[in-house]
Amino acid sequence: MKAQINDTEIFYTESGDPTKTSVVFIHGFPFSHAIWQKQIKALGDDFHCIAYDFRGMGESCVGDGQYSLEGHVDDLVALLDFLQIDQAVIVGLSMGGYIALRALQRNPERFLAVALCDTRSEEDDNAARIKRANAAQSVKKEGAAAFAEGFLPAVFSEASITNNVPGVGMIKQIISKNAPLAIAGNLIAMAARTDTTASLKDIAVPTLILVGEKDKLTTPEDARNLQNQIKGSVLHVVPDAAHLSNLENPEFFNARLLEFLHSTK
Ligand code: MLT
Repeated sequence: MKAQINDTEIFYTESGDPTKTSVVFIHGFPFSHAIWQKQIKALGDDFHCIAYDFRGMGESCVGDGQYSLEGHVDDLVALLDFLQIDQAVIVGLSMGGYIALRALQRNPERFLAVALCDTRSEEDDNAARIKRANAAQSVKKEGAAAFAEGFLPAVFSEASITNNVPGVGMIKQIISKNAPLAIAGNLIAMAARTDTTASLKDIAVPTLILVGEKDKLTTPEDARNLQNQIKGSVLHVVPDAAHLSNLENPEFFNARLLEFLHSTK
């Protein structure tokens, strides 16, 4: 389904029971709502599940390719308004977590609870910004499929790549279908994001933190930093998983997520 919001078109899926607690899934970069299939299936009719493609990704509009984290937060809030959801549990993975953390700073009243998966609160350092700027240039020259090839070893464990777990092929396909302009635009959005660390102490909703034990991009140490600063938060390290812990070990991930969601009802 498509929502016309903030002068763009945002694609989303809606499933489960609309009278139950709404759970909004935000994917990481440069993926799409499709990464959440196994989680949505596990939540079944016990929840009202929304998964959307943030600006430029998946089936959402690419537009001019000029994005910001602030704009992604505006879109999240506008999507909640469009769907007439006052408050939701937000589940954000990686860049989806960056969006969730910034939204928690700006619009805490829209949150019932939050799950922060394979993410961090710190902004990019100078080296990361240079890397993103270079990647934004090269994806426009070399295309999304080449970008996908280079990206896989950063997000999956060696074992997942060697054994070609189903998620690997899916992620390759999702990235390859995204527009190079949109990949570049979202790299620049991440490079320019604000640091949300100072406001972690103000988070007043139940918080679940999940991280793959082998995550090299947003490490278990980053996750522990989140846990140390968010009052009452619960952290689980996902075994046999790297950055895409929901795809690499969906059984463990789903069990912890469901436990958390039922505890916040
Ligand atoms: C993501 O998975 O969303 C990104 O890889 C995060 C990042 O590059 O900082």
